[in-house]
Amino acid sequence: MATPTRVAANQLRRAFAQATVPRSSRSSHSVGLVAYPALKLSENMTTAHKLCAFHSTPSQRPTAHPLCAQKRSYSSRPSEAEHLHHVRTKVTLATLRKLYKRREPITVMTAHDFPTGTLVDKAGIDMTLVGDSLAMVALGYTSTSEITLDEMLHHCRAVARGTRSSFLVADMPFGTYETSPEQAVANAVRIIKEGKAEAVKLEGGRELAPTIARLTKVGIPVLGHIGLTPQRQASLGGYKVQGKTVAKAMALLEDALALQEAGCYGIVLEAVPEPVARHVTNMLSVPTIGIGAGVGCSGQVLVQQDMLGLYGRVPKFCKTYRNLADEIVGALKEYSADVKSGAFPAEEHCYPMPQEELVKFLRTVGQEEAAKVAMEGHRHKVEQKPVAEVAMA
Ligand code: KIV
Repeated sequence: MATPTRVAANQLRRAFAQATVPRSSRSSHSVGLVAYPALKLSENMTTAHKLCAFHSTPSQRPTAHPLCAQKRSYSSRPSEAEHLHHVRTKVTLATLRKLYKRREPITVMTAHDFPTGTLVDKAGIDMTLVGDSLAMVALGYTSTSEITLDEMLHHCRAVARGTRSSFLVADMPFGTYETSPEQAVANAVRIIKEGKAEAVKLEGGRELAPTIARLTKVGIPVLGHIGLTPQRQASLGGYKVQGKTVAKAMALLEDALALQEAGCYGIVLEAVPEPVARHVTNMLSVPTIGIGAGVGCSGQVLVQQDMLGLYGRVPKFCKTYRNLADEIVGALKEYSADVKSGAFPAEEHCYPMPQEELVKFLRTVGQEEAAKVAMEGHRHKVEQKPVAEVAMA
């Protein structure tokens, strides 16, 4: 139902559109109120409408608008309230263990920055992975091996700032753990200390058992990763399914057992035939987290950009839950059209200025004509109903 205030707001909008200054007389840069171009003020426009006309040129609109009485905050200001939604208790290794024991699938999702980390946390995902997939899907590198530890730390800290309850694990980038257990400990400590992660993930099989044993001994939880290990894709001959022969499936099981023995709290199985992953899972006493490994694993992980349709070609194993790229491009096109036409920003996107101050201001900057219109509105406000408030309520 159209309420009186809505009607007034709609009238305002229409009047605003009518009073828009032709594009040809617009300045391409903001020159302030002094340079207001000639305004078309029709007889039957209300004071509020006329005031709108004074602000109709996108590049010249003042920051304060008497009709914009709405309270707004800055998007650049962190919203404390945003975090108050967190009612879920912190997920710890003990929580993950409990989920595993009661055969409840463990949910894992990648996050690469503050907003995606916050969303994963809000969705109640058990474990957030700052995967080095970020090299490709967020930073545009051609492979995950290119990302540096400093880059990973930068992103990890951002995700950590948005994470309250989810268990946070971060990938150790290629080249930061292979040389020696000492190298791995030094770099894993940085991921925990500077990156604010709670655990690290590294790619590889039994050859990494001594390193994993060392990490877990010094108190750094480790998530293993076997099957398709993208950091080694060159030596694997590309992003190929692993464990497709009996020998390879049994080797995979050997690797999984070695990682478990070394102390991994869980193991990611990537691109492995479902029966093999199921068998490996059944043979272990720590959870497996599958990605392209079927439903027989103890949990699942996906790359957020893949499942949201934000990164080009989607792997066969990934379900596209939303096609956000199309949504976003649509929104960006709308925004662009709105800016070009002057439809954005509208009154509700502007900040208010007390009407009396506006009148004085317009006079100060030599805008007598505009000041008169503002004055008319001020009188109207004092004598009758406050037009501006009615319009913007
Ligand atoms: O880097 C990553 O995102 C990963 C997942 C695919 C498991 O390792």
